Amino acid sequence: MSAVIGDPVTAIDSPALVVDLDAMERNLATMAAYARDRAVRLRPHAKTHKSAWIARRQMEHGAVGVCVQKTSEAEALADQGVSDLYISNEVIDPAKLARVAALAARVRLAIAVDSAQGVERLAAAMRATRAAIDVFVEIDVGHGRCGVAPADAADLARRIRDAGLRFAGLQAYHGRAQHLRGVEERSGAIEAAGAAVRAARAALDAQRIECALVTGAGSGSFVLEAASGLWGELQVGSYVFMDRDYADNESMPGAPRFDHALFVKSQVMSRHADRAVVDAGHKSHAIDSGLPRVWGRDDLEFANGGDEHGILRANRPGAPLPALGETVWLVPGHCDPTVNLHDTMVGVRGGLEQGVVERLIRVDARGALS
Ligand SMILES: Cc1ncc(COP(=O)(O)O)c(C=O)c1O
Repeated sequence: MSAVIGDPVTAIDSPALVVDLDAMERNLATMAAYARDRAVRLRPHAKTHKSAWIARRQMEHGAVGVCVQKTSEAEALADQGVSDLYISNEVIDPAKLARVAALAARVRLAIAVDSAQGVERLAAAMRATRAAIDVFVEIDVGHGRCGVAPADAADLARRIRDAGLRFAGLQAYHGRAQHLRGVEERSGAIEAAGAAVRAARAALDAQRIECALVTGAGSGSFVLEAASGLWGELQVGSYVFMDRDYADNESMPGAPRFDHALFVKSQVMSRHADRAVVDAGHKSHAIDSGLPRVWGRDDLEFANGGDEHGILRANRPGAPLPALGETVWLVPGHCDPTVNLHDTMVGVRGGLEQGVVERLIRVDARGALS
């Protein structure tokens, strides 16, 4: 075990994934207040933290429930007492759909579909239970991933109703838009997504099918969805931790501020005239969205040293390198896959310098990819 409750931060073994609980709680409260003030529902995405404890904290802050991306992720959180889950993704395998149906008998559950076959198979699985499930039609709002064309949403909604299932509304998430750096390009992408939502709603109206809710949005764009009057629920995930990639986005006018709350604690294990080598490589942090930033040291650059090593070099003349044995805090490039590399996150109260280990946060859905 890399940490013991009550120990000072300095005693946490490295590398370790550390949550600054004060920063995380500020982020939870800020997003909850934002959604409340704009009268939109908040259903944060638990794929970011994969932790039932954090999901429950989000619900204590007013979230209606959480999203998950996978059946096994939903099962892992339900097993730990999370009672309202939305699988914001397609499930097509009959055996897996039987698990979805069984889960619907235990918790309040919703799911997304984007095919007639998906509806038929879901309906068949649900017939074996007396449980209910909310079904959202996913529309492609510009991501080019899952989702039907907006004009086809009504046909699928009708199939859902005809199959005896409950049509709950539209899933409209634009993942690529989240990471467009500039405000103008992000705004353009969500404007186009809004046009897709309007088109889908018009198709539903034409068939007199009520659309109770449009759900979507991520941490890079939620200000736009919330202001649009189209989306009624925000699925923001990364705001809880804020990774380096999100910090590199130009911030939206009017967007609340979120703090980095997820760090990898590392230690210098080898020191040379031109570089310091830390004990955290890409088995400690995901690098799909780029390398970590060295917290509090803009004058140092992190280079990938492999599975178990990170190499720090000065990026300004004369910047001092950390000494052998010194602690170096890293802000991961991408929080979701970083969390999935760890069994436990170490929750720290009182800051990274003087803080104390308050809680060990289990990554309940670690490796829940099916
Ligand atoms: C369907 C869906 N909704 C919401 C999110 C949360 O986005 P973010 O972590 O950018 O806030 C994701 C993230 O990938 C997603 O796939």
